[in-house]
Amino acid sequence: MKFKFSTKAIHGHGYSDYFGAFIPPIYFSAIFEQLIRETGEFRLSDRGFDLKYSREENPTVRILEKTFAPLEKASDCVAFNSGMAALSAALFATIKPGCRIIIPYEVYGTTLQLINDLKDFGINVVSVYPSTEDVLESINKNDVILVETITNPTLKVLDVKEIGRKAHEENAVLIVDNTFASPILYNTLDDGASIVVHSATKYIAGHNDVIAGLSATKERELLENIWNWRRKLSSILQPFEAYLILRGLKTLETRFKRESTSAKAIAEF
Ligand SMILES: Cc1ncc(COP(=O)(O)O)c(C=O)c1O
Repeated sequence: MKFKFSTKAIHGHGYSDYFGAFIPPIYFSAIFEQLIRETGEFRLSDRGFDLKYSREENPTVRILEKTFAPLEKASDCVAFNSGMAALSAALFATIKPGCRIIIPYEVYGTTLQLINDLKDFGINVVSVYPSTEDVLESINKNDVILVETITNPTLKVLDVKEIGRKAHEENAVLIVDNTFASPILYNTLDDGASIVVHSATKYIAGHNDVIAGLSATKERELLENIWNWRRKLSSILQPFEAYLILRGLKTLETRFKRESTSAKAIAEF
């Protein structure tokens, strides 16, 4: 059966336990028993990564990731303790020595600073005027491109599908920050993005009480790279925050519709 957005946001994790609880528990455990007693095998999470230490993998965070991935039409997702941490891991997972990053110069300020600081590590940063044409013109073979679906703070809208098509032709990697559009308006992985990133601090969590980030992809190799950077940078989301975001996700569609109606009324006024 094909479920609609809010049904997936509410019930997508499919969590069930012995008690029949509807709400998944918050696993505050920092450590987990490494070997399954009966079999002597390593304890793995459902995606096959070690489940031994909450800096690497945590069951509550995992429930959030499993709920969120289908909302972005991703096969999986990795949750972080901030949007900047999610972006950093996506970049570290894709850049190589001497590579070029294409970035429109109107994006979230800290993103721009992060990318500009990568110049000190031998990365060539090409910052371009924030228009589809200028981004398309600048793409070369094997580049990494980072764009926002709706730019912060100038609200420009680039044609992600066109950029994704060119990225594909040039074997370049397209990372899309979808924070402002949210998965309600746009699923960019269908249009050529390799990784979609969110500052979940905004629409996704929705109540201004969590700093969080999400990186989602359809590609297993990228997922493993991103996951490993999260482990090494120690930037995993904490379980209580994962619970709050799971709660916020349930009203994402309702909130988004209401916010859009209000914004339209203000604009018309
Ligand atoms: C578009 C965009 N991307 C990324 C970030 C960074 O997210 P965070 O503040 O959760 O680290 C922000 C924060 O304002 C943002 O607006």
